[in-house]
Amino acid sequence: MARRQMHLGVFVLGTGNHIAGWRMPGAYDSFQSLPVIQHIARIAERGCFDLLFLGDSLQAGANDHPSFTARFEPVTMLSALAATTTHLGLGATMSTSYMEPFNVARFFASLDHLSGGRAAWNAVTSSNPRAAPNYGREHAPHADRYRVAEEFVDVVMGLWDCWDEGAIVAERDTGRYIDAAKMRSLDHQGEFFSVKGPLNIGRCPQGRPIMIQAGASEPGLNLAARTADVVFSVVQDLEEAQAGYAALKSRLPGFGRRAEEVAVLPGVMPIVGRTRQEARDLLDRLQSFVTSTNAASLLSSRLGVDVSGFPPDERVPDLPLPETSHGFARAMLSKARREEMTWRDLLNLTGAARGHWVICGTAADIADTLQEWFEGGAADGFNVMPAWFPGAFDDFVDQVVPELQRRGLFRERYAAATLRGHLGLDMPENRFFSRAGG
Ligand SMILES: Cc1cc2nc3c(=O)[nH]c(=O)nc-3n(C[C@H](O)[C@H](O)[C@H](O)COP(=O)(O)O)c2cc1C
Repeated sequence: MARRQMHLGVFVLGTGNHIAGWRMPGAYDSFQSLPVIQHIARIAERGCFDLLFLGDSLQAGANDHPSFTARFEPVTMLSALAATTTHLGLGATMSTSYMEPFNVARFFASLDHLSGGRAAWNAVTSSNPRAAPNYGREHAPHADRYRVAEEFVDVVMGLWDCWDEGAIVAERDTGRYIDAAKMRSLDHQGEFFSVKGPLNIGRCPQGRPIMIQAGASEPGLNLAARTADVVFSVVQDLEEAQAGYAALKSRLPGFGRRAEEVAVLPGVMPIVGRTRQEARDLLDRLQSFVTSTNAASLLSSRLGVDVSGFPPDERVPDLPLPETSHGFARAMLSKARREEMTWRDLLNLTGAARGHWVICGTAADIADTLQEWFEGGAADGFNVMPAWFPGAFDDFVDQVVPELQRRGLFRERYAAATLRGHLGLDMPENRFFSRAGG
């Protein structure tokens, strides 16, 4: 039996995942630059990463995270990267609340063909109500957003199954281009969508792109357990991560799925130093750049309340989970409770990694902690969030990855050409065409 190995994704924000990462000497200060994105992707391939991940948001504001406010549209960015990368999985976020299923199916099927089988879709319900006015709509309540998402994801996956392999025959002598027996319509009539199909692009190299989910609420976990291949999680400590991991994996049999069919990747911001003091100094320097304004805007969106008026040295009280996002709020509020944090502490944490987990130390320290979580039933890998680019990502790839490889915990070279291959996942069944050509 091959030893179980970690899966690593990199969460890319050109100006850094830290809200002020771009202020570090030598750091990239733009997320609207193709050379920047291409360089980050090269570093990820040098580190044999499974996945390069692009989030997305559908609103902009001067006090928002710089890479949330000024960025390229994700699938457009990944299509460019498909041409300059060879093995790296390419994952992008697209909303089930503000897009059309036929278009989303087409975007990601195209990316899967362009990349030779490396596409992944992070299906989000867009929890930030500031997106709605950009679509002339009201922001739907949490539960409604997930009801729409359930049907939306089904329609997209159904459209990806409307073609069988080998449908394009292109027979010059007969003039037959398509084998009509290997293509069919979807004829979906649902509560929210009516979609005829088929899609106007052939069967994907991966059968269908990889599905990513990141919700941690009850409906979020259900959608993830039923449809996701990869689940991103927001956690702040080992016990919480173990509980979240078990909670998700225990739902899989209910959908006829096995635990190993889903990879759970907690988000983590590693601050790497040659010594612990150097790492500590780096984090302190980063934190010295955080202004209360930009951290407050982000924390307010995570907790669903305007926190700018709260006295900074007051303890964070117990707050109800917001309509916006349960996962982030739950992880941040339980950490605040556990560590008796003040609003200033929580603002600093949010400024650093947007509510995600931060670890600081030498490469061996960080490898120890990742190994503990990986072998302790808390993770199948990690969504790495470098505080700034390229330096902090170079440090992780050149110092931590070799340590993980030396311990046999991570691949030393790519053995597969597709993201599905990197994740060790089988080709999916086609609900309309069985592989025996039925
Ligand atoms: C690692 C990670 C990445 C995410 N990326 C996005 C994103 O790019 N765009 C977005 O609107 N939401 C994003 N989310 C938010 C989730 O999709 C989800 O809306 C949120 O966690 C709330 O879900 P819940 O209420 O089910 O917990 C992300 C969440 C996580 C954990």
